[in-house]
Amino acid sequence: MPESNLLLSALSEANPLPRLLMGPGPINADPRVLRAMSAPLLGQFDPQFRAFMRDTQALYRAVFETANAHTLCIDGTARSAIETVMVSLIEPGDRVLVASFGRFGQLKAEIARRVGADVRVLDAVWGTVFDPAQIQAAIAAFSPKLVACCQGDTSTTMLQPLADLGALCRRHGAMLQVDATASLCGTPLPVDAWQIDCVTGALQKCLAGPSGIAPITLSDTLGEVIMHRRHVEEGLRPAGYVAGAGRIIGSNYFDLAMIIDYWSERALNHHTEATTMLYAARECARIFLQEGAARVHARHALASRAVSAGLTAMQLKLFGDPVHRMPNVTGVWIPDGVDGERVRRALLEEFNIEIGTSFGPLQGRIWRIGTMGYNARCDAVLTTVAALETVLAGEHHRFTRGAGVDSARAVYREARGDPAMSPAPPVPAA
Ligand SMILES: Cc1ncc(COP(=O)(O)O)c(C=O)c1O
Repeated sequence: MPESNLLLSALSEANPLPRLLMGPGPINADPRVLRAMSAPLLGQFDPQFRAFMRDTQALYRAVFETANAHTLCIDGTARSAIETVMVSLIEPGDRVLVASFGRFGQLKAEIARRVGADVRVLDAVWGTVFDPAQIQAAIAAFSPKLVACCQGDTSTTMLQPLADLGALCRRHGAMLQVDATASLCGTPLPVDAWQIDCVTGALQKCLAGPSGIAPITLSDTLGEVIMHRRHVEEGLRPAGYVAGAGRIIGSNYFDLAMIIDYWSERALNHHTEATTMLYAARECARIFLQEGAARVHARHALASRAVSAGLTAMQLKLFGDPVHRMPNVTGVWIPDGVDGERVRRALLEEFNIEIGTSFGPLQGRIWRIGTMGYNARCDAVLTTVAALETVLAGEHHRFTRGAGVDSARAVYREARGDPAMSPAPPVPAA
């Protein structure tokens, strides 16, 4: 396109068709979050805004089920939070064990290598997770400073059980970093009870918000290691400032010691706060806590059961270890003879519904259907299953028309105790 036409099209208003985002994230934000984001902009040292920051810390302590003082948000997407922790914690040569069961395990290994760690990767076959004994053996053999692991890896839709991993790491003198980008608020993650040193999250999955800010929490132990490396930048040093004895952190933007100072009562300047994103993070946490963790988790599990029932009734085969599936993203094999990309295109172009495929060895082989946050709803599930059913019938996939949406609907009706789903009463004799 000539430059002049490009500019002409760029000058037109962005007015996209609304899509139903049923992929592995992002999802549609809860309208409450979008409304919160239209609140007036404030400077980050405005007393009103500092109060919002404190609220947000308190709200995320409740979300993470932790008393960690260092609970805050990183301005950036989920990987920015992962990178912030790693660049601030890891010094060149430090040992990091990554328990990887998908593409986002690979991401953590990649970030750890870039910050100079001596990285060992423990790999699980995609579609499976680790037995804790495997991780224990790897920790014992490698003595890492940090163990990094996903809770849910969206690329494979698998969920790693974590309840015992924190204690295991502590017994071996290691810290545990959990990437809960895709699972936070979709499934339990009681940070203190599970003795996890650091969790990073995101809004654009089960928290029903947009991407662009990442809640994190750090144990006091991990916080101390980071504050030992505290070097406040020139021009901001408070009276009596003494630099930390540890090596200066190799990133300014992702310097967690300075970010902690910025969020603390010291309120030392760092970046200009993305105020709109903070409003979003605050509202997402409020929505989650108002509905209540148990109900939100149950809502995700129900949506996932309904999708699975619908897909199975359409003669599709679910992907991965059935015992360790995430309750918010469902992987399903693309059947032989069906063009997976053509199906995704038809869903998008004809139904305005987005679903995902995956990465690496699973690219083009599975679809991933997310039922997360605001979209973990009966109508969103039924609309998606019904549309997929129509498109698949057009691809000459063999199944009983209507079976998918009926089965998904039956899961919801049964959960409601809808009497219409009970066996029909006997017809009285004439
Ligand atoms: C488990 C996991 N970790 C990390 C990321 C990266 O998140 P972001 O794209 O927000 O940086 C994703 C994205 O889907 C993810 O699912």
